[in-house]
Amino acid sequence: MHKSKIILILVLLIAITSVCIFLFSNKDKKESTDITLRSLADKKDFYIGGAVNSLYLDNDSDYSNVIGRELNLITTENEMKFGIIHPEKYRYDFSSADKIVDFAITNKQKVRGHTLVWHHQIPKWLEEGQYSKEEIKEILRQHIQTVVGRYRGQIYAWDVVNEAFNDDGTLRDNFWLKTIGPEYIELSFQWAHEADPKALLFYNDYGIEAINAKSIKVLETLKTLREKGVPIDGIGLQMHTWIVNGTNINELKTILNNYGSVGLQVEITELDIGVAEAKESKKTKEKLQADLYSSIFTTCLSSESCSAVVLWGITDKYTYRIEEEEPLIFNRKYKPKEAYWSILESLQKDY
Ligand code: XIL
Repeated sequence: MHKSKIILILVLLIAITSVCIFLFSNKDKKESTDITLRSLADKKDFYIGGAVNSLYLDNDSDYSNVIGRELNLITTENEMKFGIIHPEKYRYDFSSADKIVDFAITNKQKVRGHTLVWHHQIPKWLEEGQYSKEEIKEILRQHIQTVVGRYRGQIYAWDVVNEAFNDDGTLRDNFWLKTIGPEYIELSFQWAHEADPKALLFYNDYGIEAINAKSIKVLETLKTLREKGVPIDGIGLQMHTWIVNGTNINELKTILNNYGSVGLQVEITELDIGVAEAKESKKTKEKLQADLYSSIFTTCLSSESCSAVVLWGITDKYTYRIEEEEPLIFNRKYKPKEAYWSILESLQKDY
């Protein structure tokens, strides 16, 4: 071959290689500088979370990708509830909870443990068993200490007691109240604290993000317990809400102040916003939903006491609400909805 031809081919090869290197390095740069909800939250030392279901982590890679990419905190949706993690008296099953904790470790995410003491998802062996008060106390102590102990150092916050109050502010007449009595609440916090002294311990409930009989009584009770030395660090506001008459933002602001003023840390723990009842067009509903998401995030971000917002899921493909509510921030095909962009914007502002 002629010498000049060889040189030409070499020059061409070098040029093609350089173009390829340029394109690939820019692709990497684009990916690594992409703005996500979690990248913005990280900059503010704020947590944006989501409830995660271990079944979908295994079977749906779009799901696990979006959870890993967008969130810096995850909550176990069901996997740490009594009936699932402790299905028989002498048998615990940590397999699905472990899956979520391992996923979080791999993706450098914090984990909220949900939930140790609740009136739902209690196993039959316990609910239908014939046990004395002392035996049930011992079962609950062992349960809490085994579960919290297993994940010691890996769970940054626990929903220790969930939904213990009625709307009128009285204690819910649930399995635990009936069998142990009202002291089950403080005992549970004490036992959890003994098992992991560094974990933050939360009381979690719905309907307490507004000023009403329930939120007033919950605040009073938690304040009294804290004064007695019961290790309660925070309060979780569930907030399964709606665009129609769902949330009063002014009351939410007041509530965050009130809880903060008695030293409680607040997290919004189960946020989703349903649209089914509204009569507007689909587009308007999405816009109203985005506006409410944005107001809730803005309110939490501007409050001294509020440090996290956890969504109850991530995609309308899998929601705890009825399908028509379409309450989450990605649609069924994992396309970000208006709500996603409005949250992104709220995370970009200074407060
Ligand atoms: C729900 C889960 O999302 C469902 O998959 C399950 O069937 C029932 O529990 N308040 C809570 C959560 O504290 O644990 C509930 O989660 C939703 C209401």
